[in-house]
Amino acid sequence: MSPLPPSGGNSQPVRRGRALLIVGALLALAVGALAVGVGTGHASARSRPAPATGDPSALQPVITSGSGARPTPTETPDPVTVPVFNKSARSIDDPSSIWVVVDKKRPLHPVDYVPGDLVAVPVAHVWEPFMRREAAEAVVAMFAAFESETALRMQSQSAYRSYDTQVDVYNQDVASNGQAFADSSTARPGTSEHQTGLAMDISALPSNCSLAACFGTTAQGQWLAANAWRFGFLLRYPADKVAVTGYEYEPWHFRYIGVDLATQMHNTGVTTLEEFFGLPAAPGYD
Ligand code: DAL
Ligand code: ZN
Repeated sequence: MSPLPPSGGNSQPVRRGRALLIVGALLALAVGALAVGVGTGHASARSRPAPATGDPSALQPVITSGSGARPTPTETPDPVTVPVFNKSARSIDDPSSIWVVVDKKRPLHPVDYVPGDLVAVPVAHVWEPFMRREAAEAVVAMFAAFESETALRMQSQSAYRSYDTQVDVYNQDVASNGQAFADSSTARPGTSEHQTGLAMDISALPSNCSLAACFGTTAQGQWLAANAWRFGFLLRYPADKVAVTGYEYEPWHFRYIGVDLATQMHNTGVTTLEEFFGLPAAPGYD
């Protein structure tokens, strides 16, 4: 039999429970109850709350063995449930998947894809916003939370853009700023997240630093950077990931990926979809 761990006083209920377990070998009923309730010290791991989820399919419980210590004759191995994030739960290629990864090396297929469930997003705006229904509902919840938590307001600058609209936006950027600049700030048609119906550019209301890097210093930009994940959104183009995303810092561009994935990325500190899914960096077009 393995030695008992040292007594730990009131702060060590698991160790005290194990001593009881051994003593209780004489009492069959007590043994049964204790063996289920206190086994190998993993009670806290078992009861640890899972992160907030919006799609249970991505977080799958996996039963693993307990502490690894050799069980005594009176103990049974204590299974531990560990939530494991399933990176294959959704497609990253299907344009209708909320996990689709679109960048300079991953154009949409088909290139003129149009989402099937676009709805108007009932929030303050510059241009009337449309998004896919699930993303639109998340935007409404996020704007409501922002307004109630800060007593400030924000607005949609731009949301869904069709292939043809992206042609116009890209051509205007090239005409105004040259192609090199345009390629660092505007996606070529067929490679924009805006075409998925899952992205929104957000600005302050009243306008302040709209579509400019200084938006990241506004109350709206700071709150979004800290809280968008709670509603399933990702700040898609961080300042320190230009070499990965291919775009300059866009503190206003938020991409809906669902609460499961956004929470997992937040909790693990991975800030780009390319890195999270092990995809090549996309600094330029092929
Ligand atoms: N500004 C982002 C990269 C877009 O045009 O989709
Ligand atoms: Zn954008």
